[in-house]
Amino acid sequence: MRKNMILIAAVDKNWGIGKDNKLLKRIPEDLKRFSEFTRGNIIIVGRKTLESFKDKKPLPDRINVVMTRDRNYTCKGAVIVHDLEELSNNIDCSAAKVYVAGGESIYKLLLPYCSKALITKIDGSFEADTHLVNLDEAFGYKKTYEGDWQESSAGVRFKYVDYERIPE
Ligand SMILES: NC(=O)c1ccc[n+]([C@@H]2O[C@H](COP(=O)([O-])OP(=O)(O)OC[C@H]3O[C@@H](n4cnc5c(N)ncnc54)[C@H](OP(=O)(O)O)[C@@H]3O)[C@@H](O)[C@H]2O)c1
Repeated sequence: MRKNMILIAAVDKNWGIGKDNKLLKRIPEDLKRFSEFTRGNIIIVGRKTLESFKDKKPLPDRINVVMTRDRNYTCKGAVIVHDLEELSNNIDCSAAKVYVAGGESIYKLLLPYCSKALITKIDGSFEADTHLVNLDEAFGYKKTYEGDWQESSAGVRFKYVDYERIPE
């Protein structure tokens, strides 16, 4: 499996990422950034995250790879894979960048294959049922960039923080 995937996520102060299969907070500026990074590239999402998208449809203008264990699952316009081996067969030869775009189970599964993480930190604590591992405390990752707090039109502050895997 390629080891240069890029994790991309928005987290609250507790590294919460979602509740009831929805984002904790929709930050338009961050969604735009997500789109700019991922457009023309590959995103990998779990089946539940795909189903949280508008009309349960893949995001346009990029390859959507969806992980599910359900062999009968279909989704028009998406590439469906059922395990790591199938995932690897589908992405390893591609010249495109591969963004690991959630949710919790997919972040957990694919973090070992990510060389970078692009995190949007939201200045708030929300009730959450899904989380990302705390990269400030996780072994093997270091912070490489921390932006200033910005005001979102959604009424919360947020900042971008990048991490990189420390070479072994
Ligand atoms: N804040 C953010 O940046 C961000 C980004 C994305 C998502 N989210 C949030 O994350 C939450 C969803 O996270 P989640 O963990 O519940 O769901 P998820 O990771 O999106 O999807 C889980 C599903 O993925 C499939 N799957 C997981 N591991 C697999 C494996 N090893 N092999 C094959 N298929 C596998 C299974 O599908 P089947 O059940 O079909 O087998 C599983 O039920 C939502 O609230 C969403 O809004 C937040």
